[in-house]
Amino acid sequence: MSKKNLDWSNIPFDYVVTDKRFESHWKEGAWDAGGLTDDPTMHLNECAQVLQYSQCCFEGLKAYETKEGNIVIFRPDLNAQRMYDSEKRLEIPPYDKDQFVDAVKTVVRANADWVPPYGSGASLYIRPFVIGSGIMIGVAPAPEFTFRIFSTPVGPYFKGGVRPISVMVADSDRAAPRGTGDIKAGLNYAMSLSTVMAAHRAGFDDCIYLDPATQTTIEEASGANIIFIDKDGGLVVPKSNSILPSVTRRSLVDMAKDTLGMKVTERVVRYDEIKDFAECGLCGTAAVIAPVYKITKGSDEIIYGSSSEITPVLAKMRKTLTDMQVGDIPAPEGWVVPVE
Ligand code: PLP
Ligand code: COI
Repeated sequence: MSKKNLDWSNIPFDYVVTDKRFESHWKEGAWDAGGLTDDPTMHLNECAQVLQYSQCCFEGLKAYETKEGNIVIFRPDLNAQRMYDSEKRLEIPPYDKDQFVDAVKTVVRANADWVPPYGSGASLYIRPFVIGSGIMIGVAPAPEFTFRIFSTPVGPYFKGGVRPISVMVADSDRAAPRGTGDIKAGLNYAMSLSTVMAAHRAGFDDCIYLDPATQTTIEEASGANIIFIDKDGGLVVPKSNSILPSVTRRSLVDMAKDTLGMKVTERVVRYDEIKDFAECGLCGTAAVIAPVYKITKGSDEIIYGSSSEITPVLAKMRKTLTDMQVGDIPAPEGWVVPVE
């Protein structure tokens, strides 16, 4: 084994072709055992269901190198469960959860040279996904499906490294009240592109959404959940049926309570009260915790801390989470899974 020759501390959040990926097929009622392949290109008929009607969902998780040089992954069982839930909602035959975790480990093991070294701040991003690959011209589920996992080494999600970001409140919705906001369907991300690009064109790093029914409560960003710290240093987490159940957010909630002894409140959060919070951040696998220093809605501007430095409570939470993820400090049982 020898690590690839990359400038590990400065890699962007980008796709790189790594050595191996895993692929499995569903046909005539069953998933096959699947296996590794070298080919990064997928070959699809022009009438593949996914190309017409978007029957697809995906996951995202990361592998890290520990100080001792071992490779670990963070809570893959939760990604397996969420993928299962997404598949059920989209009429995709669910992939076995244990097989999902085994396949993730197989991909990481096969691309061990691409796992960024301990201390670089980078990680190996793992992207499992499933698509309706069979031919379908009427609006119906695909007759065949393809499950695939690739991996790519990544650095910070937002350009410019770990830094406070600015976000704009979107003026349209990413998900309907009883829609697919709580699963990781590709179609949610297509829905978010126009608002994300409008935010970028206006000079913001990202946009955040209000609830689709009333536009008065806080939902999430296009690729991350939102968390707040109140004036007493407590964690406040917006609750909604139309946001993704983030693995990072759920881990932060437990960590804040059990490791940091913080008060944690999970509740509906109104837009008109967020000016009273002390800190704000976006959290997710890709984002980790990205501090938010500015939220803009029309002529309204809310500022948290400064544009140059991460606010103190989120800084402590980020450090504790990332220390757990690389095994520097103990994590709750089952969170940090070795890839033998
Ligand atoms: N919300 C959305 C819409 C996302 O795409 C993601 C990324 O996965 C998250 C939240 C964060 O979820 P997780 O922490 O499981 O990565
Ligand atoms: C992740 O954090 O894993 C995601 O899927 C976010 C994605 C939009 C990059």
